[in-house]
Formats: sequence, C-alpha cells, structure tokens
Amino acid sequence: MGTAIKDTRVIITGGANGLGFMYSRHMLLKGAKAVAILDIDVATGTNAVKKLNDEFGQNRAVFISTDVSKDDQLKASFNKAVEHLGGLDIMINNAGILDDAKWSLMIDINIKALIQGTYMAIETMGKHKGGKGGTIINIGSVAAFLLTKYVPVYCATKSAVVSFTRSVALSFDDVGVNIKAMCPGPTNTNLMTSDAYRFPEYIDQEDGVKFMNAWPLQKPEIMAKEVMRFIEEAPNGAIWVNEIDSPTTCLDIPEYTSWKTPV
Ligand SMILES: NC(=O)c1ccc[n+]([C@@H]2O[C@H](COP(=O)([O-])OP(=O)(O)OC[C@H]3O[C@@H](n4cnc5c(N)ncnc54)[C@H](O)[C@@H]3O)[C@@H](O)[C@H]2O)c1
Repeated sequence: MGTAIKDTRVIITGGANGLGFMYSRHMLLKGAKAVAILDIDVATGTNAVKKLNDEFGQNRAVFISTDVSKDDQLKASFNKAVEHLGGLDIMINNAGILDDAKWSLMIDINIKALIQGTYMAIETMGKHKGGKGGTIINIGSVAAFLLTKYVPVYCATKSAVVSFTRSVALSFDDVGVNIKAMCPGPTNTNLMTSDAYRFPEYIDQEDGVKFMNAWPLQKPEIMAKEVMRFIEEAPNGAIWVNEIDSPTTCLDIPEYTSWKTPV
C-alpha cells in the first residue's frame, strides 16, 4: 500500500539538521537514488550533504539554500531540485519551527510552505498532468492533538497539517499521489532542547521553558526508522503517531458527529 524507497528521487525540506537530516540518511540507507535537501541553514546544510555523500557516494545528496517561508524561493528551489534529480518520486514536507513568539513566521513555515510543497509535488508527480504518481509525506506532530497554553499556534499549525493532509488525500483517484502525515512525539533535536524564550508574551517564559524541558525525548534514529516504515507500509491518507516508549499507532479519527453533545 505504501511506496518502496529503493531508487526513488526525494526532496526534503528542513533536511540540514535534526529529524530531517535523519530522514535523509535513512532514505539513502534504504537505497533512495538521491536526496535534495532544501534548508535555510547554509553551513549546516552544506556539511550535511558532504557527510551523506562521503557515506553513500558522490551526488547522492544535494543542498539547495532555501527559506521555505518565501513562496518564490521555495518554488525556484523545488524546480531546481526536480531538474537536478531528473524527476521526483517522494516529497517530504518537514521544515518546521516551534516558536510562538514568532507565530506569523511559524504559520508561514509550518503550514503555508507545507501546502505549497504539497501542491507543487502533486503538479509534478500527478497522473492528471501525465506524471506517474508518487508519495508526499507531511510532518505533523502529536502537538496537533494536545491542549496546552504554552504553544497554541504551534499546536494549531500541526492540527492544520493533519486536517489538510486528510482532505487532500481524498483526491488520490484524481492525481495518483499518496499523501499522508506522520506525527512525531517529542524527539531529541534542537527544536525541543533550545532554551530560547519562545512563548506568547503573556506567558511566564520560565514556566514555558520548564514545560518544554519536562518532556521525555525519543531518539531521532527511532523516529527516522518509523518514518521509513510509514513511507513503505502506510496507505494513502494515513495519520501515524510515534512517541517514546509506546508502539507506533495509526489514528482512526472519528466523524465529528460522534463527538456532538446537545447543549
Ligand atoms: N523534535 C520534536 O520533538 C518534533 C516533534 C514533532 C514534530 N516535529 C516536527 O519535525 C520537523 C523537524 O523538526 P526537528 O525536530 O528536526 O527540528 P530542528 O530544529 O532540529 O530542524 C529543523 C530544520 O528546519 C530548518 N528550517 C527552519 N526554518 C526554515 C526555513 N524557513 N526554511 C527552510 N528550512 C528551515 C532548520 O534549519 C533545520 O534544519 C518540524 O516540522 C517539527 O515541527 C518535531
């Protein structure tokens, strides 16, 4: 029901560091033909690609400097990547920040760029345009389902990822592209471990840092292996959650009518 990774051409946003770098490495471990990393961090991205090419062979990874929050940059980099790869089989919309003090920018990165990435990938791979289909992985978060006062906009962007993915996946019969969302639980990357103050102004910032530091963090390697399984096994429209100390689960989200309470 999923997609075999071997010999695929992959674009990943936010792949210079953290989970995105791990996904890139595990895609190549699984035999992906080549990975294009679109990321804003030029120094880390250049180094990441060097590491991957040293491990897997020249030209298996390419870095394209991109601020995904800028529509024009994302479009130009996406086109450059497709040209470099000679096509596209898998798009991973992974770039994200967790910073409710910069909520407008966070919306642009976490959801606007993810929608743009999804639409460009459908346009490129879609059977309605003569393509041969493909796979799009959107990165959500368990935060999509959390109730917390500390990062309300982060939670909202991730709920939007889940909602958008479920709805757009309904067009599978029209475009032949599998679209699904993986929702990681707290994982040991800069996104969780930075002590930066990044909560709404009215929140006690020290309390916010304590809230972030209280989460047990899973290892990025474990998350990366589960994302590979997600690509290979999960059907179109699937929403999976992976958290520390519990097996990966698929979410079967009920019709809203079953939550209704007369008032
Ligand atoms: N770490 C976690 O606990 C966790 C949990 C759930 C979901 N996620 C999601 O996983 C994804 C990756 O997060 P991570 O934990 O690896 O974070 P990270 O901070 O380690 O890595 C994020 C990457 O995105 C890049 N990036 C940031 N802004 C960008 C921009 N404007 N344009 C292009 N690239 C940009 C960064 O340079 C970095 O390489 C995010 O979408 C995040 O919301 C993370």
